[in-house]
Amino acid sequence: MLRCRSGPPGISKRKWGIGMTAIAETAASAYLEGVFAPINTEIDAECTVTGELPNDLAGVFVRNGSNPMFPPKGRYHWFDGDGMLHALHFENGRATYRNRCVRTQALAAECAAGEALWTGINERPDFSQPGGPFKDTANTDLVFHAGRLLALWWLGGPCYQVALPSLETVGEYDFGGTLSTGLTAHPKLDPETGELMVFDYSVLPPYLTYSVMSADGRMVHHTDIDLPGPRLLHDLAITERHTIFLDFPLMWDPELLARGKTKVTFRDDIPARFGILGRHAEGEAIKWFEAESCYMYHTINAWESGDEVVLVGCRIENPLADRPDHETVPRIDVLRLEPYLHEWRFNLVTGAVRERALDDVMTEFPRMNNARLGRPTRYAYSPRIAEQPTLLFDGFVKYDTESGAGTSYGYGDRRFGGETVFAPRVGATTEDDGYVLTFVTEAGTGASEAIVVDAQRVEDGPIARIEIPQRVPIGYHAWWVGAADLDAQRLTP
Ligand SMILES: [Fe+2]
Repeated sequence: MLRCRSGPPGISKRKWGIGMTAIAETAASAYLEGVFAPINTEIDAECTVTGELPNDLAGVFVRNGSNPMFPPKGRYHWFDGDGMLHALHFENGRATYRNRCVRTQALAAECAAGEALWTGINERPDFSQPGGPFKDTANTDLVFHAGRLLALWWLGGPCYQVALPSLETVGEYDFGGTLSTGLTAHPKLDPETGELMVFDYSVLPPYLTYSVMSADGRMVHHTDIDLPGPRLLHDLAITERHTIFLDFPLMWDPELLARGKTKVTFRDDIPARFGILGRHAEGEAIKWFEAESCYMYHTINAWESGDEVVLVGCRIENPLADRPDHETVPRIDVLRLEPYLHEWRFNLVTGAVRERALDDVMTEFPRMNNARLGRPTRYAYSPRIAEQPTLLFDGFVKYDTESGAGTSYGYGDRRFGGETVFAPRVGATTEDDGYVLTFVTEAGTGASEAIVVDAQRVEDGPIARIEIPQRVPIGYHAWWVGAADLDAQRLTP
């Protein structure tokens, strides 16, 4: 499947026998060009560092993303590409870079066929395909749970275990045979109990299911959540005792769906609904709260405060709005991305809902200190959306989510970054005692680096820049696996 070529000294390089120019030419999409263009090499490299890598930064930074390995069949959507991981292993003040495709079963089938077999979400679903109409790419997110790094897919499917630091795909992981549904991106990991709260959604009833996985990687709770119809969900949130489900009026057009066609529609006359359920409760016990109509891809955090549950995330007023700002507000096909930091407060006793906008700067793909997920937090690290027609981040903002005040760092002219992961310093004592990590790629040259920013001195910019010896395409979500987790890795089912 792979042709091997020797690379420059100090770099181990493997090249797929697939022409990436052919991919860009056969499926015109802005998300196949420039900083988004896929790559067909897998390399291991010791990296040159400018500045000084702190010794208390120890672990692996891994980022997932969409990287089609074959010319797409039909119209391409950015969400369709095969999962590719880019990682930096920090150890003893050194950084080693690797990138690998996630070897999904679907990719193996396409490699055997020598071409793409699945169409993407811009085409009519082909229900004759084994495993479903859309190709499970495991391209979206990552989570380290029960000693395993798992690559996850936004539309829900099997998840794939990936070994660290090699990034080799171990195979599908089904939680010891206890997983009875697919798994979407963005499960939530309780940092104290080790439980993983997951959901799956479907165009057929039950439209939403919820499961809790134990700290040792077994499903210990499963229930259906009643929704009025199929919805396009993307994330959830947790507190110490509750799970928060998001029911926004973004959906497949019901009439077209009944005829086997998929077209996304948004109903701004339908309120946003937030369902709060005890972590181990049955679905019938859910308590729904209504708020102004909106959509949200990503939450930042939620916690309990007296009688209230507080939720902070990136609110989009209308993800399909037709406004004449195509050059300054990014789009991914029909999806318009104009998200702002927002807070909701749900009173569990009175049922009251309060909400407020916290800032007027467009940000998305937010991260926080995962060691405090579900507990009161103050800080978020949110990539800042560039005024471009495609989704690009030209810097990031460290937010104080109590006040909405932010401290920004910009990457510079024509330089674009990704999700900004927080890596706690070894021995960290406060919430922001650690580092912010992201890949940054320069448009035009493709020169790529990872930057390390002291989270308590964001305005100072990187304390270290790590040169990556190939272009790192813009991608999706990332995860920090600290040295202690790495030592506890389990590679057996
Ligand atoms: Fe996401």
